[in-house]
Amino acid sequence: MNTNSDSALALAKGLVEALDGITGEVDVAICPPFVYLETVGRALSSSHIGLGAQDLYFEPDGAYTGEISCQMLKDVACSYVIVGHSERRHKIGEGNELINKKLTAAINSGLLPIFCVGELLEQRQAGQTESVIIEQIEKGMAGLNADKASAVTIAYEPVWAIGTGKTATPRQAQEVHAMIRQFLAKMYGSDYADQVRIQYGGSVKPDNAREIMSQPDVDGLLVGGASLKVDGFAAIVKAAAEAQKAKN
Ligand code: PGA
Repeated sequence: MNTNSDSALALAKGLVEALDGITGEVDVAICPPFVYLETVGRALSSSHIGLGAQDLYFEPDGAYTGEISCQMLKDVACSYVIVGHSERRHKIGEGNELINKKLTAAINSGLLPIFCVGELLEQRQAGQTESVIIEQIEKGMAGLNADKASAVTIAYEPVWAIGTGKTATPRQAQEVHAMIRQFLAKMYGSDYADQVRIQYGGSVKPDNAREIMSQPDVDGLLVGGASLKVDGFAAIVKAAAEAQKAKN
């Protein structure tokens, strides 16, 4: 719930300019609030930056006051949609079953979901990180075969690191990312696990982006607060592109 119509447009235009020429190593998308999607989308139209939404509702249409369908997102030129963000899970109360319906609807409509998973601080302290994340993936991706699941980007976002200034150490991120990849290999096979993108999110900043992205199982970043300033976000994209180039 950041930006207003002027600042969202200015940010999008600034990013188009700042990221001009950065192609190849990384894909970049931005996910503004619903009401600015159309305006921001127009500003991105001649750029390589993709457009995504922050949520969706799984029903195709009908009496669901206040909700936004996949088709509505496609109407305003969205390619991506975030599903199961920790704030939706923990502040709004979304559970794994609802998230599974949203993920399935997004894929069936041709949107590319960014599916968020992550543990609370008390779950990490109780040694439950792995079991919590496996349950989120098993329940969230239930019913999706490997073909459908290939549309999914996973975002590992430890809840205790989102918007708190506390970043997971590169080692902590790598450990969980490797665990997620191994679990996905069991679910969908090693070809799937090798190609799926697993992003890290949680207090990513220009000064820590490169080190996190350099971890072998970190394929991308989901950036919140630091995406609200052109310079900071552009620096993160550049660091990610360089780290990815070094890995390839
Ligand atoms: P942050 O947010 O980068 O501000 O921690 C991440 C997110 O909202 O997914």
